[in-house]
Formats: sequence, structure tokens, C-alpha cells
Amino acid sequence: MKGVLVILACLFASFSPRDCKQQGSIPEGDLLVLTVATQETDGFRRFLRSAKHFNYTIKVLGKGETWKGGDYMSPPGGGQKVRLLKSALEDIQEENRVILFVDSYDVIFSSGPKELLKKFQQAKHKVVFSSETLIWPDRHLEDKHPHVREGKRFLGAGGFIGYAPNLKQMLSDWSGADSDSDQLFFTKLYINPEKRKSINITLDNKCRLFQNLHGAFDEVMLKFEDGRVRARNVLYDTLPVIIHGNGPTKLQINYLGNYIPNLWTFETGCTICNEDLRPLSGLQESEYPLVVIGIFIQQPTPFVTVFFERLLNLKYPKNRLRLFIYNQESHHEPHVRTFLEHHESEYQGVKLIGPEEDIDPVTSRDIGFDMCRDDIDCVYFFSIDVDVVLKNENTLRILIELNKPFIAPMMTKPGRLWTNFWGALSADGYYARSEDYVDIAQGHRVGLWNVPYVSNIFLIKADTLRTDLKDPDLFESETLDPDMAFCSKVRNKGVFMFVTNMHTFGRVLSTENYQTTHLNNDLWQIFENPAEWEERYIHENYSKVLRDDLIEMPCPDVYWFPIFTDVACRHLIEEMEHFGQWSGGGNVDKRIQGGYENVPTIDIHMNQVGYDKEWHKFLLDYIAPVTEKMYPGYYTRAQFDLAFVVRYKPDEQPALKPHHDASTFTINIALNQVGIDYQGGGCRFLRYNCSVTAPRRGWTLLHPGRLTHYHEGLPTVQGVRYISVSFVDP
Ligand SMILES: *[C@@H]1O[C@H](CO)[C@@H](O)[C@H](O)[C@H]1NC(C)=O
Ligand SMILES: *[C@@H]1O[C@H](CO)[C@@H](O)[C@H](O)[C@H]1NC(C)=O
Ligand SMILES: *[C@@H]1O[C@H](CO)[C@@H](O)[C@H](O)[C@H]1NC(C)=O
Ligand SMILES: *[C@@H]1O[C@H](CO)[C@@H](O)[C@H](O)[C@H]1NC(C)=O
Repeated sequence: MKGVLVILACLFASFSPRDCKQQGSIPEGDLLVLTVATQETDGFRRFLRSAKHFNYTIKVLGKGETWKGGDYMSPPGGGQKVRLLKSALEDIQEENRVILFVDSYDVIFSSGPKELLKKFQQAKHKVVFSSETLIWPDRHLEDKHPHVREGKRFLGAGGFIGYAPNLKQMLSDWSGADSDSDQLFFTKLYINPEKRKSINITLDNKCRLFQNLHGAFDEVMLKFEDGRVRARNVLYDTLPVIIHGNGPTKLQINYLGNYIPNLWTFETGCTICNEDLRPLSGLQESEYPLVVIGIFIQQPTPFVTVFFERLLNLKYPKNRLRLFIYNQESHHEPHVRTFLEHHESEYQGVKLIGPEEDIDPVTSRDIGFDMCRDDIDCVYFFSIDVDVVLKNENTLRILIELNKPFIAPMMTKPGRLWTNFWGALSADGYYARSEDYVDIAQGHRVGLWNVPYVSNIFLIKADTLRTDLKDPDLFESETLDPDMAFCSKVRNKGVFMFVTNMHTFGRVLSTENYQTTHLNNDLWQIFENPAEWEERYIHENYSKVLRDDLIEMPCPDVYWFPIFTDVACRHLIEEMEHFGQWSGGGNVDKRIQGGYENVPTIDIHMNQVGYDKEWHKFLLDYIAPVTEKMYPGYYTRAQFDLAFVVRYKPDEQPALKPHHDASTFTINIALNQVGIDYQGGGCRFLRYNCSVTAPRRGWTLLHPGRLTHYHEGLPTVQGVRYISVSFVDP
């Protein structure tokens, strides 16, 4: 009845407009969002983006002020916010103005003004505060809080909505210092029954408007629906409009903020991946931002020479790159030296810290950052650990174009769920798996992800290093590993660590079991880093051998196909010459069973250089599939007693008399180049009067050993010829 009266009264305009409006829905134009942000943090940008998405009208208070309201991470504090709000309200005269006051760095909107205002109206009070599970900062006030039948009992100051006049009334008593607790101030108003009534305050007990995440970890889940994402409170079955990662819940809000309101959805995929880009195309080379690349060699690592080859292939003008190389390993000095001898002058500058300088890894990271910080021309610092296999030559360009203060490319390890980021942290700060980790790691969800930990490779804006991350001890910690200490500090400074899986960027090597006792230690990596080993050592056309018909038959049942890269051939020869204990070529041979060699050669056995297990793996993985294709029905386990490298020299042993091999089949790989390294050579199969006289480096002969393929080694007349021979399945 009263409602009808009011509506009638409104028609006759004898009531104030404010009373009238409340009967219908509040116009969206009446809503103004006030927030305090003294800096443009990543969190603030996230807040603004979500606000803009729903067309909220925002006024930002405190821009450019120094933040005095306590530490970003540790309340209490926040009096400064109250002061700023109070003074902002003084300028607002409209009685019907509805003000939403929220924090910004850790807040996102998950729905629009219309829903917010409707829920505000349904709360039937003039001021509605967010609610909390936990009481703080003063536990003793618990009993003074009104009881609630269902929902949360305590007030949260991080978000409230109300009519401007009521908020003014609420703040009229404020005379606190900037460092005082806003939470305590509002709590005291709320637990005072007279004030609560006169200001007309209530709490949003069931998180219909506001979701504070502190103490609510299990309450909130992502809810995907038709191209948008919300947070759902599963305890009260509500869909809060404002999500607030208050207190120690920054990781949770970051996780939710990777999706809400529409950043990534099943329907659209990533919607922010093309926002705020910094395009490089169209720039003159000289206009490219100057980047300092920090390269960190902190343990013996396989394929370091390959690392530098990939660095050289990075698509970016080298005269816009400076290198900072930290090498702690004397083992790698020759690799670094060789790279610099040939390429130092191509870069705009190089600073090298070698093992002799005895600088610890933690300090080296700071020195690297300083090389960028202290140089006004530096725009980015690109940090790469030497165990990174940077397969994508555009990585640096892609990361720059994404235009984030901190961004890492996702790196993987073949055949594992390992990546260089963590989706979540355990309570003690170590790895924990987020719900979306596997989907991101496997590329089922592609986009930009704000995560709590990244390692091995990342790009930071120089400005961020000069401001938020200017501390000199970012990697130092009493308790944490340097990488974890670093990430923890970056997080605490409010800098978002983004990782992107929008492209395939590369892999990270396993550095376990890397021995440095050989000359070419990478040869031994077939077990630990099989993908890198294959790329380095297996001929680029080997895959065609199995797929197409890139296999020749120069003589009956003698097959000929590419197997090794030039590098593999060179490394194998070098390894044998480095070992140096070539057999004398006599019939007595203590290395073999029985001690007698019928057809001796000048050779070194694989097991003499400790390469027999690796060689067996090589035969199994790369030779067995070909034999099974060419000799169908014969299955090999690639057993061998004899596998060796032979050296033919005119004045040593130039040739080998006709013989049968003690094998089911034989592998004979040419390791160097006829016409260049030697003259002559080749292999002749007597039964067929058929010779292979133009051996190709890296190609292997595959032929039956016994009975049919009686053969001889043709004379090498000049230079030195090397072949690698294996008698398989003796
Ligand atoms: C926001 O405003 C724009 C332009 O006024 C409009 O196109 C868009 O649909 C609005 N978005 C929402 C969520 O209301
Ligand atoms: C608060 O205001 C509403 C009207 O907006 C009124 O119905 C309610 O009684 C008021 N509550 C108190 C405690 O004054
Ligand atoms: C691989 O095959 C292609 C096409 O036949 C050829 O051009 C290329 O030189 C081959 N690669 C090597 C290393 O021989
Ligand atoms: C073997 O082949 C060569 C040329 O390929 C030929 O000159 C020679 O006569 C052949 N010998 C026999 C026994 O057929």
C-alpha cells in the first residue's frame, strides 16, 4: 500500500526524486565507481579493463599521491583511502547518486552496473558493505557484531556501495591519519547499533554483490557460460558482481583474473592477446627498442654451441642488442670464446663475466639487470638461461609486441608435463598444480596467463626494472632458491608475471647426468635429451628414409641412406682422435673375445670411449626401423659385440682384404668426404662384382654380413678416411 502511495506521490512530484527512483530500477547513469590508485599497476590495469568491459563510469582518486595507507600486501592501513573518498564526496551534490567504492589493484568486475544496482536495491539498505568470513583487525569486536542466520557476519572495507548522502554521513566523523585502518573505522560504525540504523548499513552476507576471497578459498569457482566467465560462490549459490583478492589471496585473484570477465572463454579463446600491442613491423632496424640479453651459464650444460647458434638466428637487428654473458663454468669457456671471436662485433656491445671473476650467480643477475637499468637507451632486459632451447626465432619480437612489463614464453620438456611456469603455489611457496595447468601446458588453452612463478627465460621492461623492481637484491633470500625469491619479490611488487603459450617457443634441456669427461660431450646426450640429440646429430633427411623412398640400393641387398649430420661425423672422428689409442691392426686383439681378429683394422671400439650404451640406443632408434623396413620379417634388438671407427691411411692401413662380417647385418657409415679429406676408398661386394666408390659423408651402407656379402675395403690412396662400422646381431 505504501509503495502505491509513493508512486502516486511521485506522479504528483511532491516527494523528492530520490524516493521515486527507488521504486523503479536505479538508472545506470546514477552509478559512479570511485577507487583509489596511486600507481598504474598491472592490477590497476586489470581493474580498469574489466570496468571498461561493462561500461562502468570510474573516477580514480589519489593518482600521483604517494601511498601512505600501509603496505600493499599487509593491512591494516587505508586511512588515506577514507580521506580521499571523503573529499571526493564533497563534490557530489546529487542526492540520488549511487557510489560504489572499491579497491582496484586486486579487484575485478564480473558483471555490469545493471546487475549491481539491482542487487543493491534488493538489499534494501542505503549502504551495503562486502562481508568477510574472518574478523580483522580486532578480534575482540566479534561479539558486538549482529548475528546473521546465514552468510558472513563480518564487514569488509574493500568494497561498499551506497547513496552519496548516506556515505557522506558515514564519513563525517573521519579524522584519522592516512595510516589508520579503514577496516577498523567502518567496523566500529557498523557494530554501533545507532549508527548502523541511522546510516542504514547492511552487509552483503551471501556475496551477491561482493566476493572477498580471503578466507573463502573453497567457496569460489569459475563459471563458464556463453562467451563470458564469472565467479560462482558455491556456498551460497550466488554470482558476485565484484571479486576482491583481499589480503593474502593475490594468487587466487590472479588466477580468476585470467578468465573473468571474458579474457579467455571456450567460445572465443583468448580475447586480450591482441590488446595493447606494440607492433614492431614497419620500424626501421635502427628504431627497434634496445634490448640487453642476459645469458646465464650456471652449470655444465649440453648443447651450448647450439645455444649460441640459435642466439645468432634470433630475428632482431643485432645492432639493437647488447649481450650480458655470465659464465660460471670453465668447461664452457671455449664455447663462449668461439662465439665471441666470430660474432662479438655484430652486437652493439658485449659484457662477459667469466669463471675467473668468481662472481656468484645471484650477484650476476643483479649485474645483468644493472646493465639495462643504468643505460637510458635500454628498453628491455631479456633473460635466458643457457639450458633454454630457443627454437622460435621470433621469440623476442613476439614478446616485445605483447607489450607487458613482464612476460615469459612457455617452454616445455619433450614428453613431459614440465613447463617453465607454475600455475599455483603450495602453502610453503613451492610448486602446486592449478586447475588449468595441464590444459595450458598441453596447449588446449592458449593465451596470456598471469602466474605466480616463471623461470629460465623472460622479458622485462627496463622501466619496470627502474621502478617497481629497482631493489638490488631481487634474487636474494635466506630461505628460498634465487628463482623463487625473485618471483616472490616480483609478485609482491604487484608486477604480473605473464606467460604465453600463443606460439611454440622451445624447450628446456635436462642438465642432469651431463658429464664433461669427453671432448664432445653432447654425443652422450641421446638418453637425457633425445630430441636435441636427434636434431644435432641425425641427418635432416633421415625421416624421408622411412617415409618416402630416400633409400638407394647400389648393389643387391645393399641399402644406402643418410643417417648422420656433418656435425655427428666430425664429433665422432674428433672423439676417436682425442682418445687416440688406435689398435695396431694385428691379428692379436685383447679387446675382443678369444683375443684373435681374423681381419684386423686400425680402429677404436665404441666401448673404449664409453659409447657402447649410447651406440646401442642409436642403433635401436634409428637403424632398427630401417632394417625392419628393408628386410621385412627380421626383427633386430640391435645387439652387437663389435662397433668401431676405422681409420684408413695410405701409409698405415689403406684397404681391407675380402672377408665376411661376423654379423647378421652390418652398418657402415662414411664419416668424412671423398675428394676432400681423402682419395680412393669404397667398398666392393665380390659376389656381385659391385662397388660403392663414392661414399657420401653421413650416409650409411646397410648390408647382410654373412654368406652372401663377401666384401673388401678398397684402398684409400691419399689423405685419411674414417668409417664407423657395426656388426649387428653377431
Ligand atoms: C558498452 O558501451 C558500448 C558503446 O556505448 C556498447 O557498444 C557496449 O555494448 C556496452 N557494453 C556493455 C557490456 O553494456
Ligand atoms: C533502511 O532503509 C530502507 C529503505 O531504503 C528501510 O526500508 C529500512 O527500514 C531501513 N533500515 C533501517 C535499519 O533503518
Ligand atoms: C635433404 O634433401 C633435400 C631435398 O632433396 C636437399 O635439398 C638437401 O640438401 C638434403 N639435405 C642434406 C643435408 O643433404
Ligand atoms: C667387374 O666389373 C668391372 C667394372 O665394373 C669390370 O671391368 C670387370 O670385368 C668385372 N669383373 C667381372 C669378373 O665380371
